[in-house]
Amino acid sequence: MAKEDPLKIADPRVEFSVNPLGIDTQRPRFSWVVVSDERGVSIKSCRVIVCSSFENALKGIGDVWDSGRVEIDSNIIEYGGPPLKSFTRYFWRVKCWDDKGRESDWSEVAFFETGVMKPEEWRGYWVGGGRYLRKEFELRGEVAEARAYVTGLGYYELRINGRRVGDRVLDPPWSDYDKTVFYSVYDVTDLLKKGKNAIGVILGRGRYSPKKKKATLNLRYFDEPKALLMLRVRYSNGEEEWIYTDESWKCLEKSPILHDDIYDGYRYDARLEPVGWDLPGFNDSEWKPCSRVEPPKGKLRSTAAVPGTKIIGTLKPKKYYSPKPGVVVFDFGQNLTGWVRLKVRGQRGAKVRIRYAELINEDGTLNTANLRGAEATDEFILRGEGVEVLEPKFTYHGFRYAEVTGTPNIPSIEDIEAVIVHADLEPIGSIATSNKLVNDIHRIVLWSLKSNLMNGVQTDCPQRDERMGWLGDAWLSSEAAILNFNMAKYYEMFLQNIVDTQREDGAIADIAPVYWTFEQLYPADPAWGTALIYIPWALYQYYGDKQVLRKCYEPMKRWWRLLYSMSKDGILYFGKYGDWVPPGRVRSIENCPFEIVSTWILYRDAVILSSIAEVLGAREDAEFFKKKAEEIKEAFNKAFLTEIAEAPIFRQVGYLSKYVRSDGKHVYLGGTQTCNALPLASDMVPAEKVKDIVGALVRSVEVEWDKHLNVGIIGAKYVPEVLAKYGYTELAFEAITQESYPGYGYMIKEGATTLWERWEKLTGSGMNSHNHHMFGSVDAWFYNYVAGIKPQEPGFRKFIVEIPRLRRVTHASASVYIPTRGLIAVTWSRNETGYSVSVAVPVGSVAEIHIPVATKCVEVLESGKVVLSRDGAVSKTSGVIDVKKEEGFVVITVGSGKYEFEARTC
Ligand code: BGC
Repeated sequence: MAKEDPLKIADPRVEFSVNPLGIDTQRPRFSWVVVSDERGVSIKSCRVIVCSSFENALKGIGDVWDSGRVEIDSNIIEYGGPPLKSFTRYFWRVKCWDDKGRESDWSEVAFFETGVMKPEEWRGYWVGGGRYLRKEFELRGEVAEARAYVTGLGYYELRINGRRVGDRVLDPPWSDYDKTVFYSVYDVTDLLKKGKNAIGVILGRGRYSPKKKKATLNLRYFDEPKALLMLRVRYSNGEEEWIYTDESWKCLEKSPILHDDIYDGYRYDARLEPVGWDLPGFNDSEWKPCSRVEPPKGKLRSTAAVPGTKIIGTLKPKKYYSPKPGVVVFDFGQNLTGWVRLKVRGQRGAKVRIRYAELINEDGTLNTANLRGAEATDEFILRGEGVEVLEPKFTYHGFRYAEVTGTPNIPSIEDIEAVIVHADLEPIGSIATSNKLVNDIHRIVLWSLKSNLMNGVQTDCPQRDERMGWLGDAWLSSEAAILNFNMAKYYEMFLQNIVDTQREDGAIADIAPVYWTFEQLYPADPAWGTALIYIPWALYQYYGDKQVLRKCYEPMKRWWRLLYSMSKDGILYFGKYGDWVPPGRVRSIENCPFEIVSTWILYRDAVILSSIAEVLGAREDAEFFKKKAEEIKEAFNKAFLTEIAEAPIFRQVGYLSKYVRSDGKHVYLGGTQTCNALPLASDMVPAEKVKDIVGALVRSVEVEWDKHLNVGIIGAKYVPEVLAKYGYTELAFEAITQESYPGYGYMIKEGATTLWERWEKLTGSGMNSHNHHMFGSVDAWFYNYVAGIKPQEPGFRKFIVEIPRLRRVTHASASVYIPTRGLIAVTWSRNETGYSVSVAVPVGSVAEIHIPVATKCVEVLESGKVVLSRDGAVSKTSGVIDVKKEEGFVVITVGSGKYEFEARTC
């Protein structure tokens, strides 16, 4: 960067993604990052131009749209020009001005391409009638550009001229096919050629046509598998040609895929494989014409810019053994999501079987008890010619162990690997500390998150007969996900699925999409349904994006109003799960009564809605929700805040009441950690009683539970947060890392490689998954309270770096790359005399850095220069806005740039 070039635009994206294909929204979001060698740079305004050609973009001519100079808080500008045309590449650039009026250069030229903007522009028909569909066609000239717009329900695999198209597996993402059907767009220019070509689609059942009979599952069945595809080809002379699904396609009735089911696995007979079917010249005379079928009711929406489910890597077994003759068990040393790929050579007709499990029995055989109704078995009948690579399609398994039977010899380690499959999310965060347990917990949270970011949904678990997008699980770990991965588009897709569950009366369901037929899923438990409000708000807090708020605002309001209408005198008694899975139990009413959790949610959602309304400029709504929040708070305290004497609500509804002795007099009914933490988390406690409630909470964690958490999934997020908020970070840290039951450290000690569903180490059937992410909120706690990074204003416009005093952590380092802001990074270490702290603050942000100091006498240096001298004199270096001494801390406010602080006590 030249000296005279203080502002430089980097990483231009559309819809949070680099040069995406197939965008089908009329208001795509442009975002970028500004970098500078200077410190203290703050961006005032930016300007985006959208151009019809690369040349115009180069010249800076925004012939499609010119935003003009727009004042911004985060580096996002929404497109606001004339309607975008389908199948069109648009070029764009951005430039910015800082608060000193200095202007940047234009960014590099970036682009995006649109998909199908209007439903009537879809050519072709939905076809079905077999699992293999093919078509041959002739192209008249040289292909300059070709795109495939495709979907297949439940899953599809697209092939052109013998090659697989793209690297998405288990596509399209899940949805309620009566409401939404996702399609994907691929650049297939290189796969086509002048002359004869062949295109083929293989269909899987997925969530659209489950065949599983098991009565207990009550799965929804939509229809038999079907596909929709169109191919747009542009020749080098500019002419266009379309190929699409219709009755001229051929369908194979007797498919080699004997069975495919998400839960049960895949059964394949390689003897029936139509070898060469996806190449031109294949003899398909025995194939029947495909039939035109009823289209699904859902609206077609593009997956452009949404991270697809992909093969992310492979893992070799750590060990293998034979628990009984003819059976080999491979241990991959890590619980993961995907399947096994096995190379074998064997006789024609031989049956090779792979079974999957998270656990093993004492004798080394697979323990599949906790998979409940999921058979988790892949079966292959060999063709008997040379080496065959066995790998399932249209299914996935959650497993650490795989059992192989039916191979002529014990497969060698060379021939087997676990294929890791999950959403291809961009990693944006990292954290590492001097404390091994913290690092280990972080690692298992990451594995659990990844294993459950599948199929465009955040599932509860990847292994048993469930794998549903449970809303409670999702919002509780959403901050952990948002800090570790670029979740913007992924969550938007999940939110679309949540909105799709909404009924006339505003009710949304506990899970999204609703793949079960149980009526009890409506309305959602308030602490589950809050995902619709909480996740968009979290996206706004971290990435600064307002569009997601706007998109969800009306559905959010309708959902909240329904809950409010169910409340009585400000108390919401309705609940189903509450503080789910506390120690020793699944149900949680004894731990914290439903009405406390549900009413707290009603309050918290009203507060968030009021803030959202303000952001969106809906003044009246903002006032309305503020007023409602006040009313609910009052009712909450009146009903639940009590002196240790009466327990009216409990008597009334017959729940058990249980109190702990508190340091003060007041306690929230139930008296448990969660009950006291929730109102503290949302500042609902009357000021003069805060001390009592904090006292009761601390006493429960410290004394009653001997520095352990007694919480379900909701308390697991809020108890540590509240303890840290009131200065008990050390106690929270002790409780989190407990190596004795219940604690995250305990899971690690017992060998967990992903988070358990329960605090207990269970190996039987029932509610006992070993890969649930819902306790994963702890990872955000590590970023916030161990590394010390706490967002303050949306999109990290302002953030706090608060270096904790933790006995068992001597250094920590974390970073988060926010695509709409830049890199936020903190490294701190403690030594005999004080702390070294380095901080990276992105352009456009301000950070407030709190460094603990033990004594009154302290000296602070920044990059070797004294900024706070022993006698208290302040001298600011470039970018340093303020230096203050506070009780136990030095607080330094800085603008953008990289800083190295040294705080020494004297
Ligand atoms: C799921 C949970 C979910 C819960 C709600 C369970 O079966 O696995 O993670 O939140 O049900 O009741």
